[in-house]
Amino acid sequence: MPKKLSKKPKVLDLFSGCGGMSYGFEMAGFDIVAGIDDWNDALATFEKNHSGAKVFNVDLGNPNLQELKKELGDIDVVVGGPPCQGFSISGHRNPDDPRNNLYKGFVQIVKKFNPSAFVLENVPNLVSMDQGKIKDNIINDFQKLGYKVTYKILLASDYGVPQNRRRVVFVGLKSKQEFSFPDPTTPNDKTTVAEAISDLPDKDLEDGFKIKTKAKSSFQNWARSSKSEIHNHQLTNHEQKTVDLISMVPDGGNYKDLPKEFQNTRRVNIAWTRFNSKKQSPTIDTGHRHHFHYKFNRVPTVRESARLQSFPDGFIFTGSKTSQYKQVGNAVPPLLAEKIGQALLKQLS
Ligand SMILES: C[S@@+](CC[C@H](N)C(=O)[O-])C[C@H]1O[C@@H](n2cnc3c(N)ncnc32)[C@H](O)[C@@H]1O
Repeated sequence: MPKKLSKKPKVLDLFSGCGGMSYGFEMAGFDIVAGIDDWNDALATFEKNHSGAKVFNVDLGNPNLQELKKELGDIDVVVGGPPCQGFSISGHRNPDDPRNNLYKGFVQIVKKFNPSAFVLENVPNLVSMDQGKIKDNIINDFQKLGYKVTYKILLASDYGVPQNRRRVVFVGLKSKQEFSFPDPTTPNDKTTVAEAISDLPDKDLEDGFKIKTKAKSSFQNWARSSKSEIHNHQLTNHEQKTVDLISMVPDGGNYKDLPKEFQNTRRVNIAWTRFNSKKQSPTIDTGHRHHFHYKFNRVPTVRESARLQSFPDGFIFTGSKTSQYKQVGNAVPPLLAEKIGQALLKQLS
């Protein structure tokens, strides 16, 4: 039986990271009750940006369900993105790998809390992994718990995010309705990289710097915090060799634009890629340093990466710079999560 929904539905975020997914759900009108992860840096950022939410450092491969239930009470929606290595099925993967339990942890928590809905996000190739068996397992496991499960691969740039990031999203509804995924909001009017970051300068800014230049796009207007403060905008100082090479790559170009003798200096097909100022960025990763600013001879700052992930400037990252890049790259873009949250809220009510 579907439960009665709280006035502002309560969300529990599993594998929460810094909380990109939660932030989007909060923007959509949900109450974020808690984030659970086993990474303190990400939890510190989560706590800083979700006032009123609790954080728990818990190994979700082995959660204490009783204790969590006691701490958190009723939950309306469980969201989360277990690491994809956690979705093993019997067979060729190592059955002793503790990561196998991560997806099971998600299922156990949904079973324990019996929410009206769950949202599970992941990399799109989860759908075809193990000849589709993993996807089928997800659908079956949650069907057994009484959910109607619907899934879809979504492209973030269709929902206002200046990035071509694809993610699969599974939504389960206790009401047995099929979830209606949100229609693209910006399919013909996608935000470009320049629209997202052209107001951020090529110099270090002290955290809290008040930006005085005018916003150059509606996205920048939206992203700027009410206090116009910029945080997490410290440049990376590259070796001169790196600066010399990237300076030969034009806006939107890549290693193929380098003289032949330099084309194989990095053995990945995304090497020496400059963002295209007039298009959307490729997937923002956790800081592999292959993607460069469309104009400046450096990788994007954490703040520029965060903008491309659609984090507004009021969302502040803590921890070392390496850790901040990882938190940003791991996240579900808040604007994408917001659109999923809005559709879910409509359907739940
Ligand atoms: C892809 S990230 C999640 C990003 C998040 N959904 C967001 O929108 O910001 C996956 C997270 O799973 C966490 N994780 C990995 N193994 C875990 C475990 N055994 N227990 C709890 N969290 C774990 C990682 O620390 C990481 O933050």
